[in-house]
Amino acid sequence: MKKIVVVEGDGIGKEVIPATLHILQGLDLPFEYIYAEAGDECFEKYGTPLPDETLELCKESDAILFGAVGETAADVIVRLRQELDLFANVRPAKSIKGVKSLYNNVDLVVVRENTECLYKGYEFDVGDSAVAMRVITRKGCERIVRFAFEFAKRERRKRVTALHKANVLKKTCGLFKRVFYDVAKNYEIEANDYYIDAGCLYLVTKPWIFDVIVTTNLFGDIVSDLTAGLVGGLGLAPSANIGERFALFEPVHGSAPDIAEKGIANPTATILSACMMLRHLGFGEIAEKIERAVENVIAEGKTTPDLGGNLNTMEFAEEVLKACREI
Ligand code: NAI
Ligand code: MG
Repeated sequence: MKKIVVVEGDGIGKEVIPATLHILQGLDLPFEYIYAEAGDECFEKYGTPLPDETLELCKESDAILFGAVGETAADVIVRLRQELDLFANVRPAKSIKGVKSLYNNVDLVVVRENTECLYKGYEFDVGDSAVAMRVITRKGCERIVRFAFEFAKRERRKRVTALHKANVLKKTCGLFKRVFYDVAKNYEIEANDYYIDAGCLYLVTKPWIFDVIVTTNLFGDIVSDLTAGLVGGLGLAPSANIGERFALFEPVHGSAPDIAEKGIANPTATILSACMMLRHLGFGEIAEKIERAVENVIAEGKTTPDLGGNLNTMEFAEEVLKACREI
């Protein structure tokens, strides 16, 4: 039995997680699901957005399946990444047949450093000004760059591209860029880099030039919403947060208060995040089956409103489960 800690969180987290579990439970996996609380509502109830109990449960888990939280994101998901040392955030963006988007040939993965940079949270008021400290360490750069190359070697093999702003942020991005090319020497994989601004231009105008992208925390956060937009929106963008000991799987999106409680959120991002979790736990064949089922259902035009369809969140999940059983 694998222990899966489930954190629904707030807003559409409470909709996309039940939809995803409907599929996992329908496939009878040897998983024990342990529910834990976190987020804005949890803060209102207990005075803390991330209770110690939740953190302890996460530390005893084989994997964490996380929905989304709202305004407490910095104190919940950013803190979880740091507390559990989930240093690599893997965010694939792949075109899905039947989804209207800018391009139909996007297939890239953003590997985002997840524990350093401006998200360290070192912000201060200094008189009438506000100051933030950007922390970039050699160790942090080495392990994320190595992760990106190992990932490329294992699952992709083409190219790793670093995105940075070393011409202006000479110390922090300078270190990241130097370490990138030092680590690259150990791999027979093409390595190149762009300044983050030009990289964003190329992502929008010729995304097919990218394979694996590696970048620092804040840039990775922004760029991965951009790449989600390239392939049809946040409803489709999954992610894995990987550390040495723990792993957390979550959609890239937040609690989406604008559509919460309407039952119309697209659960695909969470379902695909669960597939990343299944692979991580050694259930690759089942992951593949669910991914194919999702593709088939979407290709048949059975979608939630964000993709132009009229299914609700649970109806979509039910279609995916049915399609899994037919594969
Ligand atoms: P968001 O990701 O929640 O929503 C951005 C836009 O995408 C909205 O128009 C929303 O309706 C749409 N969208 C997102 N997920 C969707 C889905 N599954 N299906 C269909 N449409 C979807 O980002 P926003 O609006 O900037 O933030 C809302 C709240 O979420 C904030 O309180 C923020 O702090 C929090 N947040 C939490 C994150 C997390 O828990 N990991 C990540 C990002 C934001
Ligand atoms: Mg984000």
